[in-house]
Amino acid sequence: MAVLNTDTATSDSAVVQAIKIARQYWFILIPVFFAIRFFCYKFISPIRKYPGPFLASGSRAWKVWSTYSGHTEIDHINIHERYGPIVRIAPNELSFSSPAAAKEILAAGKGFHKTDFYGVFPPPENPDIFTETREAVHAVKKRYASNPYSMATMQTMTGYIEDTEKLLSSKFDAMCQTKDQYCNLGDYLHYYAFDVLGEIAFSRKFGFLEAGYDIEKAIKTIDDMQWYDGIIGQIPEWDFAFRRNPLRKYIPGLDTGKFLITRMAIEEMDQRKKIGSKELERKDLLSQLFAAHDKAPDAFKEGDVFAVAHGAIFAGSDSTASTMQSFCHHVLREPKIYAEIKREIDEATAAGKLSHMPQWNEVQALLYFQACLKEAMRIRPAVGLNITRLVPPEGTEIEGTRLPGGTKVALNGWVLHRNEAIFGRDPKAYRPERWLEGDAKNMERYMFQFGGGSHLCIGKNLALLEMNKTLPFLFREYEFELLKPAEDLKYHSTFFVVQSGLEVKISKREKQG
Ligand code: HEM
Repeated sequence: MAVLNTDTATSDSAVVQAIKIARQYWFILIPVFFAIRFFCYKFISPIRKYPGPFLASGSRAWKVWSTYSGHTEIDHINIHERYGPIVRIAPNELSFSSPAAAKEILAAGKGFHKTDFYGVFPPPENPDIFTETREAVHAVKKRYASNPYSMATMQTMTGYIEDTEKLLSSKFDAMCQTKDQYCNLGDYLHYYAFDVLGEIAFSRKFGFLEAGYDIEKAIKTIDDMQWYDGIIGQIPEWDFAFRRNPLRKYIPGLDTGKFLITRMAIEEMDQRKKIGSKELERKDLLSQLFAAHDKAPDAFKEGDVFAVAHGAIFAGSDSTASTMQSFCHHVLREPKIYAEIKREIDEATAAGKLSHMPQWNEVQALLYFQACLKEAMRIRPAVGLNITRLVPPEGTEIEGTRLPGGTKVALNGWVLHRNEAIFGRDPKAYRPERWLEGDAKNMERYMFQFGGGSHLCIGKNLALLEMNKTLPFLFREYEFELLKPAEDLKYHSTFFVVQSGLEVKISKREKQG
């Protein structure tokens, strides 16, 4: 017994000693701990041979910093120029610049899964098609949602896009009558994209166009949320300290249930449940998703209906607005390109080949317009952050490189779309002609503005339909003159590329033909 007591006394004093030392030398011990950890990550790793920024080799700090800077897409272009086609951007993550590698990584059935980056995006308790990381569950949800998003279904909703187009046009007409003819084209395209989605998803505009401002700062709130998602998505376990913290609901302003877009989605859901979606004459996205739920209530649950319809607003508004803004800015800053687009649109109109409200099929024949739109999506894809995937457990080989299972692989559209071998000379320049003179079919194969494989953007048809209808209409009806032609748009990448500064002088064009 006496011996035991002596032992305990000795070990107690050792623990107490250790605590004392830790308290005295914490400012040395903490950096030493992190330094050891950094070098362990750097050197004890199957991907240690790949080059990259020093900070990235032993920590995720480089990724966090780069995302926080708001221009991770530029950082990625720079690191690939400096280090080559495969760059280590975190201890366990490689970024690829080759479009062929991207095709392999995104291809359906290859076993690459979405990473925990996506789990940070709300709603974690009921993931939608974008945030769902369990591939099998994702496949079920996507199967049920794909019919409502098909081009055929979207075409039946053309009228709702046109209604919103008319509202936008009435706002622009009024601006043409003002003394200074000032128009913040970028903001209005943003309001427009949100209101179109409100109509398509819930048969209700959010009211941004009518008001002419960001009601309740709803658009800004989405951007702020994405800012958080993008940064914390690089270190997803930290989400538990912030948004998934149980105390969070007691912090005013963080309850998304009160947020305009969510509030309207909940109201519509409740309304439909009361009156029944089948009773509605108008078949919007929500009612079509309810129909899918009615057919398979266990596989596609009521919560999925809400998550998918609600998620559409988040995934589809900023992205479409950003693409339209890029298109307008690139076209308007180049007088030759602007003149050529107007010539093509006017000639088609005069020949009776372009209706007052341009239709999808008609616009496909406007080859120069199509080249300009593709070029905008090539040079400035609306997703600025990386798309990340996990290498399947058994490992894989990409472009002759063996990668161990569990490695994260990252792809950035801004990098992939600047590949000279695929997109031809001056890949950094906006040059629509490349789509008319080059191998356009091959270039199309390597465009990733809508992602790819089993995670190809489900809203692609809607976005293309909306842009193809709206942009030629605006360019035929109005004359736009950039107020700051020499300046680039201001932008930052949260997940999407959020832009501002597209300000123009607007006037009504003379009727052509
Ligand atoms: C020009 C407009 C758009 C662009 C550039 C765009 C871009 C993308 C990209 C790059 C992805 C892949 C993301 C990834 O794998 O991490 C994606 C996925 C997705 N997009 Fe879009 N998007 C656009 C419009 C829309 C619209 C209008 C909607 C809905 C109404 C939408 C809904 C979605 C959804 C739900 C996903 C997840 C698909 C999946 O994982 O299976 N997007 N989008």
